[in-house]
Amino acid sequence: MSLSFEGRVVLVTGAGGGLGKEYALAFAERGASVVVNDLGADTKGGGKSSAAADKVVEEIRAKGGKAVANYDSVEDGEKLIQTALDAFGRIDILVNNAGILRDRSFARTSDLDWDLIHRVHLRGSFLVTRAAWNHMKNQKFGRIIMTTSAAGIYGNFGQANYSAAKLGLVGLANTLAVEGRKYNIFCNTIAPVAGSRLTETVMPPDLVESLKPEYVAPMVLWLCHEQCQENGGLFEVGAGWIGKLRWERSQGRIVREKNQPMSPEAVREQWDKICDFTDATKPSSVQESLQSVVSVLSRVEEEVSASPTAAVTAASSASGINPAEAVGQKLPPTTFSFTHTQCILYALGVGMSTKDPDHLRFLYEGHSDFSCLPTFGVIPSQAAMMDGGLASIPGLNIDFTQVLHGEQYLELYNPLPTSGQLTSEATIADVLDKGSGAVILLDVNTYNGDELISYNQFSVFVVGAGGFGGKRTSEKAKAPLPPPKRAPDAVVIDSTTRDQAALYRLSGDWNPLHIDPSFAAMGGFKSPILHGLCSFGFAARHVLKQYANNDPSRFKAIKVRFVKPVMPGQSLQTEMWKEGNRIHIQCKVKETDAVVLSGAYVDLHGASEASPESLTKGGGLQSELVFAEIGRRIKDLGAELVKKVNAVFGWEITKDGKNVAQWTIDLKNGSGSLHEGPYSGKADVTITVSDEDFMEVAQGKLNPQKAFFAGKLKVRGNIMLSQKLEVILKDYAKL
Ligand code: NAI
Repeated sequence: MSLSFEGRVVLVTGAGGGLGKEYALAFAERGASVVVNDLGADTKGGGKSSAAADKVVEEIRAKGGKAVANYDSVEDGEKLIQTALDAFGRIDILVNNAGILRDRSFARTSDLDWDLIHRVHLRGSFLVTRAAWNHMKNQKFGRIIMTTSAAGIYGNFGQANYSAAKLGLVGLANTLAVEGRKYNIFCNTIAPVAGSRLTETVMPPDLVESLKPEYVAPMVLWLCHEQCQENGGLFEVGAGWIGKLRWERSQGRIVREKNQPMSPEAVREQWDKICDFTDATKPSSVQESLQSVVSVLSRVEEEVSASPTAAVTAASSASGINPAEAVGQKLPPTTFSFTHTQCILYALGVGMSTKDPDHLRFLYEGHSDFSCLPTFGVIPSQAAMMDGGLASIPGLNIDFTQVLHGEQYLELYNPLPTSGQLTSEATIADVLDKGSGAVILLDVNTYNGDELISYNQFSVFVVGAGGFGGKRTSEKAKAPLPPPKRAPDAVVIDSTTRDQAALYRLSGDWNPLHIDPSFAAMGGFKSPILHGLCSFGFAARHVLKQYANNDPSRFKAIKVRFVKPVMPGQSLQTEMWKEGNRIHIQCKVKETDAVVLSGAYVDLHGASEASPESLTKGGGLQSELVFAEIGRRIKDLGAELVKKVNAVFGWEITKDGKNVAQWTIDLKNGSGSLHEGPYSGKADVTITVSDEDFMEVAQGKLNPQKAFFAGKLKVRGNIMLSQKLEVILKDYAKL
């Protein structure tokens, strides 16, 4: 079907000659009613005549087309649009084309040279477009063209004024594309090349002759047709060739270290890398751009980053955070009732399939081991967020359209039931000021009756809400951890389906970002994106299968940071590193190699822990007694020990060469504590030692330094801290 413009009203500015005339004729030929605007100025903006526009109108009418003339300058934007409304009753399409040149070398550019060019090109396009905007918005249709130039995109000698105004139009178009999208107003920009009176002074005559405006006009018509969904595009077009332009950004380099000032020398050192376009990315929105900058912040600070998996949508425009008021506030409790249906729906949502016989225990309620996937534990707790409870918290006046789900931590205290009623209590654990935004830590405890079954920590990033003078870090934050620097121990690749998000949302995340193309477009995405918590579910079950034989009782906890969105249909590649009972994970989109979940890990209960008999049969670990004693001592003397030691010690106890237990002695935070299992943050030093050698050291029979040099005691992290071991252990010589 040929492209018709019947019923459409088109305004072409500067249509008395050159390209504009060609556009006007082409639109009219295809049925449009055309307003032919031209001031009839000379190429430098001087003079005025109605002849140019009149001639084009005559030509259109002679061919049976519909056209009227307008002789106002584009600086009188309202008048141009009024002509369209008076003559044809509406305005559908606007081609901002009018232009002049006042070329001078930069030093000789006068104020007038500068101002006139800006007035006609940039301000003129602004004024005409603004006059048309509300009409287009109300009728939910509009197509706008901005005309830039290669001189603006690349720079050109003698055209400083023109280059600046022309690239200004690209900026204007970019924002109109964002603001207009939801009203079906699309704005695109062309950089044409054609012989015209503007180019006859710079091009040889035969080139002026052969680069015909009619080789540009069809592109303008296509961009302005209702069938064309292009928006925010930038194109070079001439001689019958059309190419599209976009931004490319190098991978870049972080030149700053935690708690260190940033220096120009560091920039110099990394300069080649900063400018290296290998594996360049192509950011296409402020969100994407900001995303990577914010993620750098968090990489340096080892703290929260953000993913565009918006967790909450509600309306609020006032912005203001007062941590003193907000922290400790509780959200209204929520209840969640479920049956096996929700468990199965969730399992399908995170990609389980009957293709894999292993998955049946999560998909069939009649299976003898029917279970709920551990990561279903986020579902009952997310209601607190989804219900917009955050909006009711005093001291949290934030723009909920700017809310991103940054990180997630989930810990289960018991395997989840497959049906029942759970209640969740959510508390604002902390609010952090990250400069570019605020991070809200929301702790949610979920109970089955009186029994605490899970703990979730949602890290919610609020873009633009920072700068309220709050602290940057929190001891309450469950920190993400980087994976070891070796190649992964295991990799699982799994594909999501085109309908993965459509399926996952049925588990209770109804944000239209994951299903509604126009809503996703408003957020700057080409299409709806997968839920971050869906990728999270994929990654967790990959670990559960790889390292725990799909046994949900082995699952203890998971932490992830959402880095980038996944599009439904892409494949997820989960890379895993086993470090004792902790499995570090990193998840990528296989097709693009982009990291989507970082700093992530799953903690498993040791196989021995899962079956307590094996411990007693094996005689248990002697070191357990010492740790129990250390725990008691910390309770009594913790504050004093914290002062003396000020460090977190991780312990890995081995037996017969296998990792059998992990402990953390925290003599840094609060008044000290002992935990079984690895530290959720980064231990200052981690010591690996066999159960037997640990006892030797604890009883003072083996000097820790000697044990180290004898290879009996391995130390990772700050080795100097091992000297403080004696402070911790000395009392046990008596044991
Ligand atoms: P042109 O000089 O033939 O057409 C420009 C028209 O705009 C003229 O008819 C002029 O009377 C009119 N005009 C000037 N000031 C006006 C005002 N204040 N209000 C209303 N009308 C006004 O030039 P051409 O080549 O057709 O250029 C069209 C557009 O394409 C311009 O914006 C130009 O900067 C741009 N362009 C053209 C290139 C080319 O190779 N021809 C290269 C890059 C950009």
